[in-house]
This record gives sequence, structure tokens and C-alpha cells, in this order.
Amino acid sequence: MGNSPSKRKFNNKSRKDLNKPESQNSLESNNETRLKTSSCLIPDDIETERLQQSHYLLKHLFDGNFLSPIHELLNSGPCKVLDLGCGPGTWVLDMGSTYYSNKNSVFIGIDISPTFPNQIKPANTQFIQANILDGLPFENDEFDFVHLGSLGLSFSEIQWTELILPEILRVIKSDGWIEFNEPGSSAINSGPYYKNISDVHNQEMFMGDINPNTVFKFKEWLLSNSRITNVHEEIRYVSVGSWDENNKLGEICHENFNTYLKVMESRLSKHLNINLKEYDQLVTKFFQECNELKTQFPFHCIYAQKR
Ligand SMILES: C[S@@+](CC[C@H](N)C(=O)[O-])C[C@H]1O[C@@H](n2cnc3c(N)ncnc32)[C@H](O)[C@@H]1O
Repeated sequence: MGNSPSKRKFNNKSRKDLNKPESQNSLESNNETRLKTSSCLIPDDIETERLQQSHYLLKHLFDGNFLSPIHELLNSGPCKVLDLGCGPGTWVLDMGSTYYSNKNSVFIGIDISPTFPNQIKPANTQFIQANILDGLPFENDEFDFVHLGSLGLSFSEIQWTELILPEILRVIKSDGWIEFNEPGSSAINSGPYYKNISDVHNQEMFMGDINPNTVFKFKEWLLSNSRITNVHEEIRYVSVGSWDENNKLGEICHENFNTYLKVMESRLSKHLNINLKEYDQLVTKFFQECNELKTQFPFHCIYAQKR
């Protein structure tokens, strides 16, 4: 780790050119503020529970907590793992417990909101409260694996490409892996209610400077980066609702989706210009439609290696 000047903290002042006219400086500082401000949902109790449920949904869907080929390293270590935007820390806690017998591994979660546990947690886990957009409080080449779960709707494209991805590449070791687990949007067998809700959700995201299709960008960004190799993407589908009797994940997906639509109800109903009762009716019709049409919802896992 050494003494390199690597722990990054982006500094407004250092970026300002004092010879520039004040108006230009304030324009730049507005842009900088925009770059570093999250317009994301900070998890409340309902969202926290939903995130915990999503963790187990994804774990079952992908037959484990990750697809990157790092099992051996995790078992024999030393292996240092980072979960960015860890939320309640469910992934970190699960990984910490799973690989507890390897005393050389450590699992670190970082989030702007302290919804993660502080006291009761496996000894090989740590949590840090920090804003990712201020730069990551780690040395260069520190991590063997960086995981990001459901963060696609938390940051704008420019935040991803200018701040977050360069920072991830800085803190991952050469040969280390980066992995994104992300809900998709292009459902199979979706109908008009799905389209209606999805369209209004997308418009709401665009208004907050978030690209609702960021999930499709991750692979593209990784492929176009010369410091990245071995790029993979796997998409798996879950039935929405109880139409597939053999797949219990469908009911969990329904419940999870329903909670998300509840969390978003004030924003989406306002956008649709309908009251909450009408919004509830719309959501009910949406799930009836999913059962009738046998809708399947995609989840993406994108992983790659740093050269
Ligand atoms: C949709 S949640 C995903 C949480 C977790 N990865 C999971 O899958 O359960 C997005 C998380 O990103 C965190 N977040 C958003 N902006 C952030 C920032 N600027 N710095 C650190 N964390 C941030 C939020 O607090 C939230 O916990």
C-alpha cells in the first residue's frame, strides 16, 4: 500500500482556475456539484427490507453471490473485497459468513447512508459511511474484487464514467475482478400496463439525470476500456407473480416489485397525474397482466477483469 498519494479526495478548489472569470468558475463549480450529488433513493425501513429480499432473490437466481472466477482466492486468500453502495450490507454479511474460515479475507461495504450494521457482524467484515462521489477512501490496487449491486439507478452517466468507474479501476488490483448485479428492464411477455409503468418510471429517472438503461451501458463501458479484459454478461429471468408453479422466486419477485412500486408511489402517481387510490388500481392491474401474459423480468450480471 505504501505512501503513494493515492487515497483520492476530489477537491473543488484544486480544480478551479483562479485566472478564469468568476462566471466561468461558478459554472464549473455548479457542474462539479452536479457531478458529486446523488439523486438516489436513500433506503428507509421498507426499502431496506426490500433490498435484503432482493439479495436472496439474486443469490438464488444466479446460484450464488457472484459469477466472477474468484472462488479459489476467496477460499485460500488473502482476498480483499469491496461492495460499493452496500445498503444494509446483506451481500457483505453473507460473503463474510460464507468465507469465515479463511481468516485472510476481508469484506468491506461502503455507503453514504449508515443502514449497515455497526456492531453485530462477522469479524471479517467492515462498513464505512462515505460518499462514493468524493472518491474512494482506499489506496491504489487494494482490492481483489469489487462488487456493485443494484446501483444503476443511483448515479448519472457522467458520474459513472468520470468518477466511479475510474475510481474502481484505481482501487482494484491488476488481475482483480469487478462485478455488477443489476435488475434489467426489457421484460419478456410484457403488456400495456407494464409499458405504462415502465415509461413513467423511465421519465421520472431521466428527470433526475439518471439513465434508466444504465444496466445496458456497463458492458459497453467495460468493453471500451483498455485496462479491462475478460468481459462477460449473463442475463437470467424471473417469473413475475405466481403463474409458474414450479418457481417460487416468482412470488418473491412480485412482492419485491410491489414494494418498489410502493416506495416510488408518490413520485410515479404525481408523474401520472393520478391519486394514490388510482395508482394502487394501476399496480393491481399491472400484476394481473403479468400473471396473464406470463411476464418474466431480467436480472443482469456483468463481470470483468482488470489487466
Ligand atoms: C438500490 S440501493 C442498493 C444497495 C445494495 N447494493 C443492495 O443491493 O442491496 C443503492 C445504494 O446506494 C447508496 N448510495 C447512493 N449514492 C451513494 C453515494 N454517493 N455514495 C455511497 N453510497 C451511495 C444508497 O444509500 C443505497 O444504499
